[in-house]
Amino acid sequence: MKKIYIVYPKSIGTIAPEIYGHFTEQLGGVFYDGLWVGNNSEVENINGFRKFVIDKLKAINVPVIRWPGGCFAETYDWRDGIGKERPVRRNWWTPNDGRYENNAVGTHEFMDFCEAVGAKAYFAANLTSSTPLHICHWMDYCLSNENTTSMAAERKINGSADPFNIPYWGVGNENWGGGGNMSPAHYGNEYRRYATLMENTDNTAALIACGPNGSDYKWSEEFCRTIVNSGVKINGLAMHYYCGSAGDALNFNKDEWYRMLSQANKMEEILLRHWHILQGFGMDNRVKLAIDEWGCWHPEGSGPSKGYNLFEQQSTVRDAVVTALTLNIFNNNCEKIMMANVAQLVNNLHCLFFASGGDSIVTPTYHVFDMFKDHQGGSAIQTAVTGNDEFNCSVSVSASRKNGYTTVTLANLSAETDMEISLESVGVNLQNTADMTVLYNEDMHAHNTFEHPDTVKPFTCAADISKPFIIPKTAVVSLKCKEC
Ligand code: AHR
Repeated sequence: MKKIYIVYPKSIGTIAPEIYGHFTEQLGGVFYDGLWVGNNSEVENINGFRKFVIDKLKAINVPVIRWPGGCFAETYDWRDGIGKERPVRRNWWTPNDGRYENNAVGTHEFMDFCEAVGAKAYFAANLTSSTPLHICHWMDYCLSNENTTSMAAERKINGSADPFNIPYWGVGNENWGGGGNMSPAHYGNEYRRYATLMENTDNTAALIACGPNGSDYKWSEEFCRTIVNSGVKINGLAMHYYCGSAGDALNFNKDEWYRMLSQANKMEEILLRHWHILQGFGMDNRVKLAIDEWGCWHPEGSGPSKGYNLFEQQSTVRDAVVTALTLNIFNNNCEKIMMANVAQLVNNLHCLFFASGGDSIVTPTYHVFDMFKDHQGGSAIQTAVTGNDEFNCSVSVSASRKNGYTTVTLANLSAETDMEISLESVGVNLQNTADMTVLYNEDMHAHNTFEHPDTVKPFTCAADISKPFIIPKTAVVSLKCKEC
């Protein structure tokens, strides 16, 4: 049996709701046929966006959504996505999938989507192929009050008299790769130039710099060295970590189950080491990590479109456990993280939804976001687990408290062994009966399809947490415990 201590005197910090954020890129089936069906569609929609997805996103309290890329941002001209006449262009992904961008979704449409969901927007600006002035004009267009600038007047003509609420602006995307293949020092200098002008345009916007690709610590170090004494504004350092695959999305054995989870578990070491670099430069008092792309990246072709939608891949019980493990890591390190955005929302990598035509379903990953949503804005509490040293037989856990309740989320990382767990709360008493939600399927490959949308879905029951209880192998569990 493992004992989980919830150590109330040891508070970690507040879990920014934005840690439960999402990422949407104009790529494959994320928007077209996924989120966006158009105003005239027979598919139920709100301002052209699929109502099923909007309703489900509202239900999990989505705090923030990043857009328009990703690499799509590297060649995106925001002017293509406003007004009545929208050009059709090759985009970043055209060489990969032969599809063209008709710009049906642009700034106004994306902001309609955020408004319908109740989420804040996080725009990724194109530092790779547009000038600082062009980005400042986009900020002017979006953020200036009515009756002030010509840009605000143009926005009003296009349907929005009031400025948009876009509190987060990314200064580039993956500038170590698709975003211009820059060296960290070169990007650092570009960041200084772009961020200076972006801050000058709107000094309330949080600016997020392009951070490292996974464990590229040299990137963080050189970037920090280049900007540390510059006085330039910076609120976030974006880190991307895709934990890849082991086997493929649907076909994997037990060894590959464990390999996948241990790759996902690397997230903690990677974010800690980047954080230590920020600390080393004395920047940790003004900069936090924004893990604005994360998730599994399996070989594609396993989703409903059978390869038509670039990067689309099925999501099994294993992806749900990766999600739970990652969100627990974020909760347990919340004082270092301003935001995280799982990649990507629909018909793509590590997605929460599959949707096409009249069909819309949620994936096991969606259910985990639902089960963890009470952590948003909670105060994270340190936990300690006995007998948890062997990774393949361990449980992942985090705990937080809010409004008189403690939420505890767990994932059994074992593909073979059910685990007996007992909880001990130190410093606060909990009522004996808690609401327990369990996501479990005896087949670790189980997943949802248009034909069988509920193969993997959670059930809820009352649990007596004063006694030991069992978490089945591969299961994700959340407990909502009332404090006495
Ligand atoms: O999410 C898919 C792609 O992965 C993004 O466009 C890019 O930023 C990353 O490499």
